[in-house]
Amino acid sequence: METTLEFKNTVYHLERYPETKDNSLKAWSNAEILALNYLEDKKFSHYHIFNDRFGVWNCVLKDKPVKTVWTYASQKKAVQKNLKLNKIDIVDSSFIHPLDEYGTIDCALVKIPKSLELFELFLAKIHKASEENTEVVCCFMTKYFSTSYLKIAENYFSDIQQTKAWKKARLLILKNPKKELINEKKFINKISWKEDVLHQYYGVFSSKSVDIGTQFLLENIKITKDEVKVLDVASGNGIIARELLKLNENCEPTLVDDFNLAIASSKLNLPENKSTFICDNNLLTLKKNNFDLAVSNPPFHFEYENNIEVSLELFSQVKDCLKDNGHFVLVANKHLNYKVHLKKLFTEVTIVNSNNRFEIILCF
Ligand SMILES: C[S@@+](CC[C@H](N)C(=O)[O-])C[C@H]1O[C@@H](n2cnc3c(N)ncnc32)[C@H](O)[C@@H]1O
Repeated sequence: METTLEFKNTVYHLERYPETKDNSLKAWSNAEILALNYLEDKKFSHYHIFNDRFGVWNCVLKDKPVKTVWTYASQKKAVQKNLKLNKIDIVDSSFIHPLDEYGTIDCALVKIPKSLELFELFLAKIHKASEENTEVVCCFMTKYFSTSYLKIAENYFSDIQQTKAWKKARLLILKNPKKELINEKKFINKISWKEDVLHQYYGVFSSKSVDIGTQFLLENIKITKDEVKVLDVASGNGIIARELLKLNENCEPTLVDDFNLAIASSKLNLPENKSTFICDNNLLTLKKNNFDLAVSNPPFHFEYENNIEVSLELFSQVKDCLKDNGHFVLVANKHLNYKVHLKKLFTEVTIVNSNNRFEIILCF
């Protein structure tokens, strides 16, 4: 895997976190480098950076005041890992949550996320913190771009320029924040589910309706009165834990998700006094041998990358968190063939139901 980046006569060592066996992947893209090239002759006093997945911007902009708007626990860890590898001091206060106040923005650097909604949330928050001369530098690989991103940008900024492509990457430069916005949004979607309504922030999984895989899991899930300690792995807006609480009001769900807006959403959908919310990309900080039941609709893609490595790691950690008589129920796309992997971890693995796309797997 390529881990050495030479930029303007400085050599950086940049690794991916979590690690991957796919050696074709690296910790930066031409889009991020193009944005750094653009900044070369600019004189911004400070930067707010968005979606710096593995920390290349944090490393190269080390001599400038930088605020990193982080979205994933794994992203925060990746940035910290690469700062450390490059012997750059880590300043905890430079990380801010996307829903926090940003202060005043001089230059915002955005690697355009796959989610249009998350892009909109970023731009709306940037707009709110903008001054007359604020500049927003958005970068993307051309194969992932659509005019929908442009339309969102036009809602917030009057002056929009697109640069020429360089190594299949391009920039959108946004200037002149619009004085008055037609619609101030709250960045929360409402999702109807049976008689219920769930709330979730922009960018959180399945924004229009409950995912069909999750629906299939909910049709097949059971909980007994004795199953109290429940773990919802990759919990998204918290719908699975919420349904389990309806079935057993005494249960105490713990929800874990890598995405901080997913965790923020689940806090809108579950009682805070009964639930534990953890924004993390693994289960290593959880107590071992503690849970009666673990449930999941596990992740299998991250932005534009599909892989099951992350889920397989989570499965082995679930095993450690379960009590000896505890069990794990998950829904998965049939083609992922998780049963084979789960059999290496659990004594009994059964497909308890399936339809044309999904299967429900029960593991003891
Ligand atoms: C398929 S969605 C399921 C969400 C929710 N449980 C539902 O059914 O609607 C998978 C979730 O996994 C989260 N995720 C991705 N990688 C993760 C990781 N390493 N640890 C925990 N959560 C992760 C994503 O942010 C996303 O919310």
